Amino acid sequence: MTRPVRNIIASSRRAATAMADNSTPFIYNEWYVAAFGEELGRALLARRILGRRVVLYRTEAGHPVALEDRCPHRSFPLSESSLEGDTIVCGYHGFRYNTEGDLVEVPSQNACPKGIGVHAYPLVERGPLVWIWMGDPDRLDESRIPHQEWFDSGDWEYSTGYLYHRGNYVSMHENLMDLTHLSYLHADTIGTPDYAGAPYDMDLTEGNYKLHRRVVPTRLSPVWGKSTGLDGLDSAARLITSEFVSPALHRVSGTFYDSALPDGERPEYRICTAHILTPETAHTMHYFLVHGRDFATEDEHITKFMHEQLFAAFEEDVVGLGKLEDVLKERDDSTFEISVASDAPAIATRTYLKKRAEQDAGPAFGVNA
Ligand code: FES
Ligand SMILES: [Fe+2]
Repeated sequence: MTRPVRNIIASSRRAATAMADNSTPFIYNEWYVAAFGEELGRALLARRILGRRVVLYRTEAGHPVALEDRCPHRSFPLSESSLEGDTIVCGYHGFRYNTEGDLVEVPSQNACPKGIGVHAYPLVERGPLVWIWMGDPDRLDESRIPHQEWFDSGDWEYSTGYLYHRGNYVSMHENLMDLTHLSYLHADTIGTPDYAGAPYDMDLTEGNYKLHRRVVPTRLSPVWGKSTGLDGLDSAARLITSEFVSPALHRVSGTFYDSALPDGERPEYRICTAHILTPETAHTMHYFLVHGRDFATEDEHITKFMHEQLFAAFEEDVVGLGKLEDVLKERDDSTFEISVASDAPAIATRTYLKKRAEQDAGPAFGVNA
């Protein structure tokens, strides 16, 4: 049997191993989202992030705190302990830790050992998100938080949501840089048959990869059509840019309009989704989502409608990539991947993640759990 080879740009095992996958160590020297701000309060929240157990809470003054979730006495989880004022009292023998993670009281003795405690992770709250730094303390730089300015803009309305994903974060990045899957995996939600074959171009600048797809004319999926009023038109335009911003964040932005109307006279409707990927383990991920729009910002029905429609689609990714993860867990040395021309942005992204992991991960920061 003759197999078509045109457009196959990488089919060797060597090419596949140059790309990150679920065996690639985590990249610790990046900001990741630990939680939505609204999740944090006076109850202790346990969350595993980059393979490490973390306990999160707010002080009485409302400041977020993240500590290593393991009492160094006998490893009792601090998240199963109690909050007294701003300190955590271990639920096993009562050792007390302050917000810096310092051990400040041992009930069974008068003197408290000095210089002992748990790791305290720096947190920064921006908009609806709480970012955590789990990397080298000397490389902490708040200016590298990939904050999204549109969160702060009064011109945008947004809704948030969370999905627990039983898959590695690398395949989710790849999914987001490969929008040809919309016509198939999302055929019943946000995909249209013409989407996979629509013209595209890309900007593969090191560490910031952009994929622009232009679907004109088209019919919009209900989520965009019904919310913009362009529903039912065959002349709609759908311009989508998918952008890898950092190992923790991917932004998809879109513009919709009626291409039958003259340029400059037609209303344009913009949306943006922050896909926030926080690895939990090698095979699981926290998937935080913030979806915004710059039209009908006062209309709560549209907010609710779009949220339901979009989360049905994001759920399709979670289910689909969960199945893929099950297959990938069985990978062995004979496993290879073929790639085609439209995979170039995803290949660039995975190659970058692999390179960053090799640069950043080290014994001091652990390996995948
Ligand atoms: S395990 Fe925490 S005080 Fe003993
Ligand atoms: Fe998808």
